[in-house]
Amino acid sequence: ASQVSKESAEVTTDSFVKVLAESSNLKSVPTQFTYSNDSKGSYSDSIPIIDFSQLTSENPHQRSKALQELAKACEEWGFFVLINHGIPETLLKAIIDASLEFFELPDDDKRRYEAKSPSDPIKSGTGSVITTANHKIHLWRDFVKSYVHPEFHCPEKPQTLRDIVFEFSEKTRSVTRKLLQGISENLELEQGYMDEALKLDSCFQLYAANFYPPCPQPDQAIGLPPHTDHGLLTFLIHNGVAGLQIQHNGEWFNTNSPQNSILVNTADHLEIFSNGRYKSVKHRAVVNSEATRISVVMANGAAPDAVVAPAAPLVERDGRALYRPMKFIEYVETMLSNRLQGKGNLECLKIEDD
Ligand code: SIN
Ligand code: FE2
Repeated sequence: ASQVSKESAEVTTDSFVKVLAESSNLKSVPTQFTYSNDSKGSYSDSIPIIDFSQLTSENPHQRSKALQELAKACEEWGFFVLINHGIPETLLKAIIDASLEFFELPDDDKRRYEAKSPSDPIKSGTGSVITTANHKIHLWRDFVKSYVHPEFHCPEKPQTLRDIVFEFSEKTRSVTRKLLQGISENLELEQGYMDEALKLDSCFQLYAANFYPPCPQPDQAIGLPPHTDHGLLTFLIHNGVAGLQIQHNGEWFNTNSPQNSILVNTADHLEIFSNGRYKSVKHRAVVNSEATRISVVMANGAAPDAVVAPAAPLVERDGRALYRPMKFIEYVETMLSNRLQGKGNLECLKIEDD
């Protein structure tokens, strides 16, 4: 290991990781990327699979079985593999391909979207994080993000991206709302409770695509370090190269996704809304030395002007609220400042016991 660190060199990080990975014959990870981790992860046969067609089935027996499975998935893992969701495979493939095309654009086309402020509706680049030990670590990943609902924004190039992202946002929105109807029922609320309380007609959606080039030392770099997502439910698909790991009972598990499935994880707002019944699952993206990985994420949240708070009937049932209510924007600001300080998203938002 000491030899490795001697060989590592500083490189300027204003260039895309893609450029770095392709241009030089890298044998080791440059120092500013160094993040030691065991990227291998464990496997489990019990990672939940939810059949969306059963959840929306007319057959009450099938539906109630699927609802139970959904409840268990949210409680125990905060993660599930969604199958038979009705989103055409051609669309899933199209959005992966168009996202890859974005990363293959000339650098200047991508630099146009370099973030100047966190509220920019379209952002692209590469980035670093500050760890709890106050180390700055450059991530092995290029990204592009855009707000797609209630207002639609999308990079202009490649030309095909716009229509594809728009359609994916519509389709995932409708699946999300049906899942949240099921989740409302599982929380013993009215089926339409979340839809109404969180104003899901104007729900917030963020499209993100990640590009993780092959890395010479996968245990010495990270695509995305452990984090939780904001919002309610995050959808993720990828180009068939695995890399998403979820934390379960303190251990990192690899997720694999059967063809045409969507990986779904619970996020912070769902933890708050459910008054802590469902935990926002910690996850990370590891890299590998073999193949480029592309992931496409659709983050689904409440309307930007909805209040982020535990559901009143659940607070009443539990006898107390575990999180203080706040406006969405206040929640996002707290979360961002927590991240800058290397804290978990939900720190400072929890009401502690006296
Ligand atoms: C994410 O957590 O936003 C992306 C993880 C991945 O690329 O697998
Ligand atoms: Fe995430």
